[in-house]
Amino acid sequence: MLERFEVLRNAPLDHSPAILEVGSGPHAVSTIPLAYFAGSGGRIVAAERSRWGNFRSIVADSGMGDRIRPVTCDARRLPLRDRSVDLAVCVHGIRSLRGEENIVAVVREMLRVSTRVLVAESLPIARTGAQRAHLAMYDLREKVFSATSGVPDDLRYASLDRLASLVETAGGVVESTKTLEVDLPHFLAHFPRALAEAVPPGDLRESLLHRWDEADEMRRRTGTDHPPVGMVVASRP
Ligand SMILES: C[S@@+](CC[C@H](N)C(=O)[O-])C[C@H]1O[C@@H](n2cnc3c(N)ncnc32)[C@H](O)[C@@H]1O
Repeated sequence: MLERFEVLRNAPLDHSPAILEVGSGPHAVSTIPLAYFAGSGGRIVAAERSRWGNFRSIVADSGMGDRIRPVTCDARRLPLRDRSVDLAVCVHGIRSLRGEENIVAVVREMLRVSTRVLVAESLPIARTGAQRAHLAMYDLREKVFSATSGVPDDLRYASLDRLASLVETAGGVVESTKTLEVDLPHFLAHFPRALAEAVPPGDLRESLLHRWDEADEMRRRTGTDHPPVGMVVASRP
């Protein structure tokens, strides 16, 4: 949540009392900072397909529940009217959209319901050993999840240029791009070796296990830090 605070502190949230958040996830880690920055008059529509987890209790504990409205939906078809919010954001959610076609469809919907969008996502950049250790483990996730569940979740991070170009393909006019060093640890890429062991036998499994061992060794040596975060702000023409 501290990392989300840092990202959103650098976002153009001024004069945006009505905000749509796409892919809010089970822990409200971006929703709470959004509600905080939006202030007492702010309203956050938190759109999530299915993974609500502890969302409701975390929001209640935050004391800002009256600013947050959770909505279960597929963000490719948002149940909101055209231009009904001031800003639509997707923070660290691009990775969960299972492919570029969906990313474009979701951003197009964000641009329909809002005049402005913000997309923030980690970048495949490592300036330190600890960031390299994060990427080494994170980069295995898409392949492991695809091979074990058939679903390409946790897509590998795209470059900032690629993110901006996907936003343009969705019809957005890019106003600004930014690369932000958040300077925080990031342990969440780590996953148990048993998941990689569940990949069907073959060259892919051997290579993933070998890379998992290397990534785990890097983590032990350096710890893991958050990579830089790319931010794209765009508007509707
Ligand atoms: C990485 S998670 C949480 C991101 C969260 N904003 C954060 O800051 O950590 C992304 C979420 O997007 C949701 N999601 C994926 N595809 C979606 C879609 N088409 N519509 C709505 N939510 C979606 C997933 O269920 C997941 O909970």
